[in-house]
Amino acid sequence: MNDFKERIAAQLIAVRDRSLAYTEAEDDLLIRQHSPLMSPLVWDLAHVGNYEELWVLREAGGITPLRPEIDDIYDAFKTPRKDRPSLPFLGPAEARRYIEGVRGRVLDVLDRVDLEGPSPLHRDGFVFGLVIQHEHQHDETMLATLQLSGQPGLVREGELPPGRAGGPGEVYVPAGRFLMGTDTLPWAYDNERPATWVDLPGYWIDRLPVGNAAYAAFIEDGGYDDQRFWTPEGWQWRQRKGVTAPLFWTREGGSWYRDRFGRTEPVPMDEPVQHVSWYEADAYARWAGKRLPTEPEWEKACGWDQEAGRARRYPWGESDPGPSLANLGHRAARPAPLGAYPGGASPYGAEQMVGDVWEWTSSWFQAYPGFRSFPYKEYSEVFFGEEYRVLRGGSWAADPAAVRTTFRNWDYPIRRQIFTGFRCARSELV
Ligand SMILES: [Fe+2]
Repeated sequence: MNDFKERIAAQLIAVRDRSLAYTEAEDDLLIRQHSPLMSPLVWDLAHVGNYEELWVLREAGGITPLRPEIDDIYDAFKTPRKDRPSLPFLGPAEARRYIEGVRGRVLDVLDRVDLEGPSPLHRDGFVFGLVIQHEHQHDETMLATLQLSGQPGLVREGELPPGRAGGPGEVYVPAGRFLMGTDTLPWAYDNERPATWVDLPGYWIDRLPVGNAAYAAFIEDGGYDDQRFWTPEGWQWRQRKGVTAPLFWTREGGSWYRDRFGRTEPVPMDEPVQHVSWYEADAYARWAGKRLPTEPEWEKACGWDQEAGRARRYPWGESDPGPSLANLGHRAARPAPLGAYPGGASPYGAEQMVGDVWEWTSSWFQAYPGFRSFPYKEYSEVFFGEEYRVLRGGSWAADPAAVRTTFRNWDYPIRRQIFTGFRCARSELV
């Protein structure tokens, strides 16, 4: 194998180690459904193997199906998450055997295919990038499931750099054109393409994500009880669900506590808030006299290098996200304190745009002009419209392989189990 293939193989091994670590648990915990929002963990585990079989072995490698009879069980479009416990899915031992069998053949395909050939699936290792990112995304989903399960002791902790107080609350992004999306990043998804020039007026964006202290001030100021801050849909949701704080928060003796991977702890006031819905983020922004950034505003503030006239892969540049630059790849099981990554600032001085928490934007998930679905419509195209809001930047649970300035995630505006927070913006003249 050449160097590039060796690097792909190493990434395949790393992501599999991660999936296996999250499923090193009693069978019962893996088979059970912890929330109707989530699949049983063992479903996710075999699903990543089945996806790898479909795309690398069958489509890219031309290999006959190993277990065609299980395809329907692991097709995310055939059965919604809430109904997956009733599927005849493989048990933990069989699931591990199945994905290992697939993986052996995947490495054979990697060894023999021409990554410079004409096939768009092979070129630059796209299909391998597809399955590596897909598995990392499922690993993040598994972490959300483990958080909902409330089981202690299953999720690794770690060290993060200290926070840093002070500094401006907002940074200014001057008016002008920038190139949104990409034509050049080889493993970018179809929804990030093609690159498009977008002209924006000047605007201000928060230097940091909204922290727990600021969010607690919104609660204490009656933000959840004042309809003026909420959209009609948001207010309806807040009333129906009786929501009064972020998911996993409780109030006791005048202080806020949170449940995090099976332990209860005081809410650290210097961390970015997480587990808030789009409706809550939007209401907070209105309370603060601001608004959520649009998707183009978010992307420009994150990665546009005005001087060089080009977009950066990460806010700080092209180098990989080391531990002093961003909180990605599950270094610890939480967001880092505010101000922890001065070295990871964007060209405009915005910090922590990548890692820590996904950030809600005000934009619906829509196609860029000239979009073409690849390699299949169900990756992005079927989600376009006015149902899902775009999330940017990746969380502490996202892997660097599936995070970049142009990366787009999307979810329903009511979702809170994901590792999501936000930052605010405002137009220049307001
Ligand atoms: Fe999937």
